[in-house]
Amino acid sequence: MPPRSFKIFNVVGARPNMMKMAPIVAEMRRHPDLKPILVHTGQHYDYKMSDVFLQQLEMGEPDHKLQAGSGSHHAQTAEIVKRFGELVGEGRPDLIVVAGDVNSTMACALVGAKEMIPVAHIESGLRSFDRRMPEEVNRIVTDSLADLLFTTEESANENLKREGIPAERIFFAGNVMIDSLTRALESARRSPVLDQLGVRSRKYGVLTLHRPSNVDDPKKFAETLQALAEIAEEIPVIFPVHPRTAARAQELKIANMQAWDQASPIPESGIWTTAPISYIEFLSLLDRATIVITDSGGIQEETTYLRVPCLTYRDNTERPVTITSGSNRLIGTDPCNLVQEAKKILREPRLANQIQAPPLWDGCAAQRIVAVIREYLSRTRVIHPVLFETRSKNP
Ligand code: UD1
Repeated sequence: MPPRSFKIFNVVGARPNMMKMAPIVAEMRRHPDLKPILVHTGQHYDYKMSDVFLQQLEMGEPDHKLQAGSGSHHAQTAEIVKRFGELVGEGRPDLIVVAGDVNSTMACALVGAKEMIPVAHIESGLRSFDRRMPEEVNRIVTDSLADLLFTTEESANENLKREGIPAERIFFAGNVMIDSLTRALESARRSPVLDQLGVRSRKYGVLTLHRPSNVDDPKKFAETLQALAEIAEEIPVIFPVHPRTAARAQELKIANMQAWDQASPIPESGIWTTAPISYIEFLSLLDRATIVITDSGGIQEETTYLRVPCLTYRDNTERPVTITSGSNRLIGTDPCNLVQEAKKILREPRLANQIQAPPLWDGCAAQRIVAVIREYLSRTRVIHPVLFETRSKNP
């Protein structure tokens, strides 16, 4: 009999899943005892939100495209559960790997639990303690269902233990986003985007906003953009606009905000919008930025590694290590405070040498994760111990 290889469904759905899953799939492909299969739920479907990331991260074409698409949270989640459920029913993988906190993550973990197939969760245990965020609900549900929980920072280990997850299921493996970042950084530094924008040797800021709490209320969004316009009087601010944000932004007439025409360098001030930009170009922008203003989760981590000052325009963060390590400031969502904090950074020299990358953000997280997965699969074989236990107790 040929040696057994374990079939693993690796799930991506939305843009931030790609950089988390790419190094894991690449590492799995190095091991003949693993058969990694890439499943794309289709939560994000635009070329600029999905395909360009798959290409730049060298993930190849997904083996399965579920094309679940957009909709309300409920409709989107239900569609993913339905389509992934059918795929898993037919394909019967030995393991399902999900990453992060998007609707696809939770939906696919749920399918695994119901189909009695073990689930590994990458970036487990992060908590904002704010259940108004759909991502927090997704994190809690996914972690309560997962069998292998891979964490990126100490706070996550503590959160999971406090929630009663047995220690033997928690693996502090480090940050796979940083694996992708370290691999892409050289290409990012060669990218022409800074020259095209004319900012290679100038100060500039980078802005991203897409949280419903920041962009869905037109009054609040307009006040935020007015504050940003004030900051942009001192420094040009480059704003790649997420699809959720684009519709709202178009409705508002904000002074000092214009679309970059891509043909000429940007001037010394103003907010310059672009369509969503690729992974490599975005890293290039982050790497040399004087200031980054964001409500994203992953960008807090990328700026931490790159030692770039970041203002997180939110009331909480599920990634506290980005604050304790020194580059990120959680500033709340008061537009006046945003202006004050930004001006402080523009007057301060960069504190790069006082900032240290958090433990295990070293580019090797995927190796550690895949080692645990291989050991787990070879140990458990086909019978899933947790489910076996549950089934024996509840015949
Ligand atoms: C999702 C994630 C969020 C993540 C973000 C990154 C959830 C709950 N949220 O939020 O955690 O930070 O992705 O981008 O899963 N759209 C397009 N093209 C696309 C994808 C979406 O136009 O390729 C539109 C949709 O039609 C929808 C809006 O953008 O109107 C929001 O998309 P959706 O995936 O529902 O949530 P995000 O806000 O992107």
